[in-house]
Amino acid sequence: PVLVVDFGAQYAQLIARRVREANVYSEVVPHTASVDEIAAKNPRAVVLSGGPSSVYVDGAPGLDPALFDLDVPVFGICYGFQAMANALGGTVAETGTREYGRTDLAVSGGVLHEGTPATQPVWMSHGDAVTEAPEGFEVTASSAGAPVAAFENRARRLAGVQYHPEVMHSPHGQQVLSRFLHEIAGIPGDWTAANIADALVAQVKQQIGDGRAICGLSGGVDSAVAAAIVQRAIGDRLTCVFVDHGLMRAGERVQVEKDFVSATGANLVVVDASEKFLAELDGVSDPETKRKIIGREFIRSFEGAVSEVLGESAAHGETVDFLVQGTLYPDVVESGGGSGTANIKSHHNVGGLPEDLQFELVEPLRLLFKDEVRAVGRELGLPEEIVGRQPFPGPGLGIRIIGAVTRERLDILRHADAIAREELTAAGLDGQIWQCPVVLLADVRSVGVQGDGRTYGHPIVLRPVSSEDAMTADWTRLPYEVLERISTRITNEVPDVNRVVLDVTSKPPGTIEWE
Ligand code: XMP
Repeated sequence: PVLVVDFGAQYAQLIARRVREANVYSEVVPHTASVDEIAAKNPRAVVLSGGPSSVYVDGAPGLDPALFDLDVPVFGICYGFQAMANALGGTVAETGTREYGRTDLAVSGGVLHEGTPATQPVWMSHGDAVTEAPEGFEVTASSAGAPVAAFENRARRLAGVQYHPEVMHSPHGQQVLSRFLHEIAGIPGDWTAANIADALVAQVKQQIGDGRAICGLSGGVDSAVAAAIVQRAIGDRLTCVFVDHGLMRAGERVQVEKDFVSATGANLVVVDASEKFLAELDGVSDPETKRKIIGREFIRSFEGAVSEVLGESAAHGETVDFLVQGTLYPDVVESGGGSGTANIKSHHNVGGLPEDLQFELVEPLRLLFKDEVRAVGRELGLPEEIVGRQPFPGPGLGIRIIGAVTRERLDILRHADAIAREELTAAGLDGQIWQCPVVLLADVRSVGVQGDGRTYGHPIVLRPVSSEDAMTADWTRLPYEVLERISTRITNEVPDVNRVVLDVTSKPPGTIEWE
């Protein structure tokens, strides 16, 4: 792999993703990893990430110069660039002046920026600056606050930049990172959806052998792709379980029953538990209580279905030893690196399975980012309706009704949500939004007028957001015509709704969901 050394400040994951966008496999390692540990992973290159503002601040993580004796290509970014300059004998000046935000970069030569403009905007965020490149390095760019803003030593396959090539505010950054990987480090772009899919199927085949597996499907992208991979690997020996809690959006169950099964041919057991969920949720309006009830009931239903599947295979003299989960790489990184033991998110759909169900976990996606999961799903022939889906929370519409959940309210929300989704898709906006929760303010009423009469109905909230990872988000500036169409249709077509409002809050301070 290409190893991205994480110096903190949350840049490492983004860099790892960008490396993969250049079709090169990458992994994040903490800055505490020793040079021996790094060498043991046999890296094709090492990328040093951004971090604190200065290599001189107290407690700034160090960089062992022995890294450069490994004869492995190294690329330094921001803090990593300064740490690299420092370790190789260059000069980092404690200027104390900060350069922050959009900055003009003047390119003076070199391979790294070849084919990009001589003057280009880049995103800077640094205090100190490299004033002298290490011996043997060519200075290839500068900015007002950074006399040495990029350097390279092609013979040693070392290079670095003061700015952040990984953020979208550096429009040529991806190209520069790709050039480092392909031109300077000489790594081929072999990390493609087809190769990933083949490798994962082979890996799962090896893990499960002749065994049997079960997989909880949520209707979401991750569990569907994980199941498709396992199905490809072990065929009929996989059973998928879909719990319909009645809090699904319009068409979701059918999508799983029909689209998923016809694309994969997987065995599917559908459990209809909506009565039970609604009974348990009766009269509950506190968000956390709702989440807990939904989580608990989910596990019970799933467990029930699993015992059935287990019982049947037992009757055939077989056991089910493997549980498939759609865990993704960001979860693995955030839980400390993924040393094999599973991290089951408590809010997740198949989360919190009781200990006495002894399964070995199969997590084919644990090294993938979301966009890679989608690409692999397409590669495996899953329909766009599943692969291109927006994220949808496990507790479903239950946490998008502000107030107690009833069947009637669910119908209202489901209807409004279907209209919003239909119009967003028709306007070709699905690619631009991360997701658009539609929320029913069930305990709020406002006065309206329709036809000749006064109405007293509920507001619907549209919450379109743009995001890269759901950790932060901005509200999406949807075209007025689209908003108008959604509003007109919802107020005309959905009984009991007489007002549509737009949520214009970023995250933070607002979360994406309302509960
Ligand atoms: P928030 O509301 O925390 O949501 O900004 C961040 C992202 O997570 C999704 N979400 C969930 N997904 N189970 C899930 O599988 C949950 O309980 C849950 N709660 C929120 C939300 O839709 C958004 O994409």
